[in-house]
Amino acid sequence: MKNHQTLIALDKILADSYLLMLKTQNYHWNVVGENFKALHELFQTQYEDLFSAIDEIAERIRVLGSKVEGSFEHFKKLSDFRNANKNFDNKAMLQDLVNDNELISKILREAIKLAQSEGDEISADLFIQRAKTHEKNVWMLISSQ
Ligand SMILES: [Fe+2]
Repeated sequence: MKNHQTLIALDKILADSYLLMLKTQNYHWNVVGENFKALHELFQTQYEDLFSAIDEIAERIRVLGSKVEGSFEHFKKLSDFRNANKNFDNKAMLQDLVNDNELISKILREAIKLAQSEGDEISADLFIQRAKTHEKNVWMLISSQ
């Protein structure tokens, strides 16, 4: 199939994005302390962005002619991302999100090359947009530490 590697990448990035959204929302819920309002709102901005990105990624899979496997079992199997830790303090939450946003940026940069090698500039563009957002997230999370 023409878009084989791109579809594999989309599937993986859908799973990673879903688990990162869930983790970011967990930290939105569980954050406490003097930076509460700023971090509560920062995490909300990031999980809401992921929520709409997930829809775009899944619909790109449909545009390329595949069905979307959207179960948590599938996401857990495909993704290397771990669950949120509800007992983390703010510093640990921020570091956890920095690590995951850095990792997904790296995965996206690889996916850009894969999509381009298969002549799929549209998926490459989606990956570029997502990498841009996650790199910006890293900056904002580091600046909030
Ligand atoms: Fe909320």
